[in-house]
Amino acid sequence: MIQIENLTKRYGSFTAVNDISFTARSGRVTGFLGPNGAGKSTAMRMMVGLTTPTSGTARVLGRDYRSLPTPTRHVGVMLDATAQHPGRSGRETLALASAMAGMPRGSVEAALERVGLTPREADRRVGNYSLGMRQRLGLAGALVGDPQVLILDEPANGLDPAGIRWMRGLLRDYAADGGTVLLSSHLLHEVEQIAQDLVMIGRGRIVAQGTKEELLRGGGTIVGSPDRVRLTEALQRAEHQVTARPQGDLVTSATAEEVARLALAEQVLVTELRSASDGGLEDIFLQLTADDAREGVTEGAAA
Ligand SMILES: Nc1ncnc2c1ncn2[C@@H]1O[C@H](COP(=O)(O)OP(=O)(O)OP(=O)(O)O)[C@@H](O)[C@H]1O
Ligand SMILES: [Mg+2]
Repeated sequence: MIQIENLTKRYGSFTAVNDISFTARSGRVTGFLGPNGAGKSTAMRMMVGLTTPTSGTARVLGRDYRSLPTPTRHVGVMLDATAQHPGRSGRETLALASAMAGMPRGSVEAALERVGLTPREADRRVGNYSLGMRQRLGLAGALVGDPQVLILDEPANGLDPAGIRWMRGLLRDYAADGGTVLLSSHLLHEVEQIAQDLVMIGRGRIVAQGTKEELLRGGGTIVGSPDRVRLTEALQRAEHQVTARPQGDLVTSATAEEVARLALAEQVLVTELRSASDGGLEDIFLQLTADDAREGVTEGAAA
């Protein structure tokens, strides 16, 4: 389990991570999503003690990462797969990580096999690895200590479609065995298919979090009608939220059935009725980050 409470990081007057709180639970894959520069890597670096928080706490398995005895036996970390030493072979890289974790020798071959690097590939210098191979090696390094928690920053970067599918299976199985997985991405599509829980971050702030189902349900219903005014009034009387969209339709917190019943009772014609989440989480994500960008502009103007 990973527990983040009111975590904040400021660089001078710039706030990279702004008071974020969430929990990544065991047995589940948690996706940490946000556009470029949102603060994902900064937050993850704070979780593993590489960056000191300005305020707030990050606890992994109930403790500060730095106070864990032999942290790599508990937490597998992959932050930047391109940072591996180019002169060592993949096997040497893993042997070092394995020795540091105090693992038996066989753990290296087991980790290589788990990530699909062949013995021949393992003997090549990391400097000659493709990006995808580096990601696999990075994942092997995270897994070599047989940890209960994985913290992975953009692990799918550079993987081809088959590689992404392979990684999805690996992480799902890992979580199904009781492990905790926190993985970041700026690509919704990628995370949508792996994660059960989602934390969305924009400009350092959490803009939405919950299970994937909760977030999808939270999208509301889109309603088209030639009589929007009456329909809006009826929805509001029933205590539903309603917003008129620039496209000329309405988005409401009511379910499609609730809208249909109200429209029938009011004798209002409805020409379109669908879940706002039909476009997938992407719509929600873009909407949320767009709102966040506007908030940033307002704040800037006020300052
Ligand atoms: N050491 C630092 N000094 C100053 N600013 C920093 C530092 N580290 C990060 N930042 C800033 O904090 C913000 C968040 O960066 P971060 O790398 O955490 O984003 P990210 O969500 O990981 O983005 P990406 O998807 O591009 O990897 C950026 O504006 C970045 O420039
Ligand atoms: Mg990053």
